[in-house]
Amino acid sequence: MELSTLLNLKSDQTPVILAPMAGVTDLPFRIICSEFGADFTYSEMVSAKGLSYNSAKSFQLLSVSDLLKKPFGVQIFGSEPPVMADIAKLLYAEFGTKISLIDINMGCPAPKINSNLSGCALMGNIELAEKIISAVASASPLPVTVKFRKGLDENSINAIEFAKMAEGAGARAITVHGRTRAQMYSGIADWDIIAKVKASVNIPVIANGDVVSGESAIRLIEKANCDGIMIGRGACGNPFIFEEVKAALSGKSYVKPTIAQRVEVAKRHARLHLHLKGERSVVELRKHMAWYTHGIKHSAKIRQMLFKCSTIEEFENVLNEIPIQRT
Ligand SMILES: Cc1cc2nc3c(=O)[nH]c(=O)nc-3n(C[C@H](O)[C@H](O)[C@H](O)COP(=O)(O)O)c2cc1C
Repeated sequence: MELSTLLNLKSDQTPVILAPMAGVTDLPFRIICSEFGADFTYSEMVSAKGLSYNSAKSFQLLSVSDLLKKPFGVQIFGSEPPVMADIAKLLYAEFGTKISLIDINMGCPAPKINSNLSGCALMGNIELAEKIISAVASASPLPVTVKFRKGLDENSINAIEFAKMAEGAGARAITVHGRTRAQMYSGIADWDIIAKVKASVNIPVIANGDVVSGESAIRLIEKANCDGIMIGRGACGNPFIFEEVKAALSGKSYVKPTIAQRVEVAKRHARLHLHLKGERSVVELRKHMAWYTHGIKHSAKIRQMLFKCSTIEEFENVLNEIPIQRT
């Protein structure tokens, strides 16, 4: 099946997807990115175990809402096949086809997650990974996808073997981040390994790592021959990247937003956050607001001030101080 069909998209242009990012891709940010052209977004990763214990915090991370006008997936992590399968059933029972797919996180390098044999640790335990994927795929009426990395480290690169296993176990698409677990988020993503994975499986492959512009998006698509691309850090404080990439894919020229436009979107993001998540979570905006000021003159000083803000008014006051005329 074509990736666009799997993702419930109408256009057959290469899908441009916002990466799942814990602490970042909450509902307000996903709405903003989708407005700027992200075709598909994911929830932050959610613990299957947390959901099985009915944890309010885990359920909050799902943030399923009609306010998001584009299709999206929920990403779960865990290491126990029956728990993961139960959660797949529960998600469908609770939300039905409001969710387009369930993604399994097999790429997170965080020690806290890996020490429980979840996330990227599963790339070192391919038998367990296979059991999890087939348990979730058999239990879930929704399509199941898997996101993983190049391998654990340079001495154990197994993305191709892992991709074939995932396909055999019932994954309907895969996302490959071209870094090893040992690299975490440093170094340069290896797009060659993504191309090799793509050539080895028959399911759609989403390529991920280091897309920061329209130009890099085109280069990744050409290099990896992939079915879709996923953007993570390049979208932080820069939801405009989706507009830029879409323009590049359509062969159109693109003019970057002015500082005034960036500030306006930052304010809209902040107000949406307040509306959807409430006053008590406003401090979560500090990092987002700081990202929006990247590259702006005196941004270090502005960021210092943003990191002291605790109310929307305080954020707006700092943002209003940004000298937008001098851009
Ligand atoms: C702050 C942060 C949180 C992340 N959280 C997740 C997550 O919850 N699930 C996941 O699969 N990947 C997560 N990632 C990895 C991204 O999805 C992506 O694979 C990675 O950042 C590489 O893409 P990029 O070079 O475009 O940033 C996270 C990355 C960052 C920077």
